[in-house]
Order: sequence, then structure tokens, then C-alpha cells
Amino acid sequence: MNVVLFYFSATENTAKIAHIIKNKLVKLNSEVKEYNITSKNDREKEIDLKSYDAALFGFPIYALRIPEPAREWLPHINGRGKKCGMFFTYGGVTRGIAHYETKEILERQNFKVIASADFPMSHTYNLGGWKLNLNRPNERDIKIAEKFAEILYNRFSANRDFLFTIPKPDFDKTKLKTSKHLVKHGVPPPIFQKENCNLCQICEDLCPTGAIDIYNGVIDKNLCLHCFRCIINCPEGALKAPDLNQQFQVFKEMNKLTVEIINNKKSKILI
Ligand SMILES: Cc1cc2nc3c(=O)[nH]c(=O)nc-3n(C[C@H](O)[C@H](O)[C@H](O)COP(=O)(O)O)c2cc1C
Repeated sequence: MNVVLFYFSATENTAKIAHIIKNKLVKLNSEVKEYNITSKNDREKEIDLKSYDAALFGFPIYALRIPEPAREWLPHINGRGKKCGMFFTYGGVTRGIAHYETKEILERQNFKVIASADFPMSHTYNLGGWKLNLNRPNERDIKIAEKFAEILYNRFSANRDFLFTIPKPDFDKTKLKTSKHLVKHGVPPPIFQKENCNLCQICEDLCPTGAIDIYNGVIDKNLCLHCFRCIINCPEGALKAPDLNQQFQVFKEMNKLTVEIINNKKSKILI
């Protein structure tokens, strides 16, 4: 079976789960072609699903949904009536409307969504001092990812359709707006230390939105996703995470969940 795997991953969490699933699918005798669609350039490539039997999509959850560039990219893919699975990584706080909304988008693109899964992973903002799910994926997460791969394999290769539904979340739009606002205005963009930069341009090439102009040392605040991809990939340490300890205190006060509850969340398969 030929499977195409698309994933968006700024700090490698989603990539890690993608590779566990991919390796298991390969063990089950599938061929898996991988597309990392995190960089702006990678989302501009023409993709035709004609030669694949099924597709798999992996995304992190940003402010309750999949990242905006991924939501804008999905409508360019024609599902050709093929089966697909989806999975999400998140910092353990909330999955928001990601499952429901992404399934709706994929179905609009003529995919048949047959299963989904989600994995609590190290929160991106641990780079700025948060302490959520520091040691994920653990053995249990890996087992669940492999189990998910088996389910995908069985459902992709079965000669029938599957009824897979996700109940509509009871979510009002102000929650989405507030969450987006908190990231945009509550989290400062990466800190650029000009004296360490050797103009290698890796950050410019990897930035999912093209927000970095390294010659002028500028990060466009309107474009920056606050995904910190540039920070973990800068070979010179010229981009640093802002100190987010104060935001972590506010987050803990605002949130009904304790750090302990968040760190004990389990990976889940939805079928
Ligand atoms: C901008 C932004 C928003 C986030 N919003 C959420 C969220 O709504 N819920 C949550 O549990 N985690 C949230 N996180 C944490 C990420 O979903 C989590 O760390 C994810 O595994 C990152 O995946 P990646 O390493 O593949 O980029 C957010 C992270 C970022 C950067």
C-alpha cells in the first residue's frame, strides 16, 4: 500500500509521532512518502494524490486549532475520494476544535476521514520556562502511536468504508479569538541577538510564514506564529526564546487544570 504522509512541525514533536507511525506502517509493508509542509516553500509544491492509496495528516495544535498556514494549505489538496487519517500533538492543555474542524476541512477536500489520534507532547513554551509534558513521548505514547498505525493500515487496506464521526464541539467563537489574542499579544517573538548571527539564513528558510528578514534583523510581528522553529534551528544561538515564566504563572492561575493533570494526560485514538 502507498501512503502519503503530510505533517507540519515547528519544534519536531509532530515529526516524532509522524516517524513512529511511518516506521510501523513500513513494517506492515506499506510504502510511505513523507512531506514536511512546515516551511513556506514546501507548501507551495504541487501535490497530486493520484499515485497514493491513502493519506495521513499530522499537525500541532496552536490556539485550539491547527496552525493557520496549514489551514490555508489544506484547501489546495484534492483528496480524490481517498481514505485518510489525521493526528495531532498538543501541549496537554486543550485540543480545542482541532479534530472536528480539520475533519470538516478534509471532507470538503473530498477525503474520507477514517480515524484520528492525539498525543500530549512537550509544550513549545517549555523553551521559555514552562514545564508541561517535559518527557514525552513516553513508552505508552509510542505504543499508542504504533497501535494507531495498525488501525490505519487495517482501515486503509479494507475494501469498505468506515463510519467515523466526531461530535461537534460546543465552542463559541470568542474562545478562539481570546486564545489567538493570548498567543499573539502575550508571547513575545523570539529575541534576535545580532552579534551571534552569521547570516546563514536557515531561520529565514525554515520560518513557516516568511516572517524573518535576517539582513535587517527584523521579525515581522504580524506574520510570526510564535512557533519557535527558528530558535531550535539556529546553529549560532542567535535566536533566543523570551522568558515566559510570568506567562506561565498567569496561565496556571487562569486555567482550571493543574500542571499535574496536564502532565498526566494520555494519548488517545479516536475511531
Ligand atoms: C502558538 C502556539 C499555540 C499553542 N496552543 C496550544 C493549545 O491550544 N493547546 C495545547 O495544549 N498546546 C498548545 N501549544 C503547544 C503545542 O501544541 C505542542 O507543544 C505541540 O506538540 C508542538 O508541536 P511541534 O513541535 O510539532 O511544532 C501551542 C504552541 C504554540 C507554539
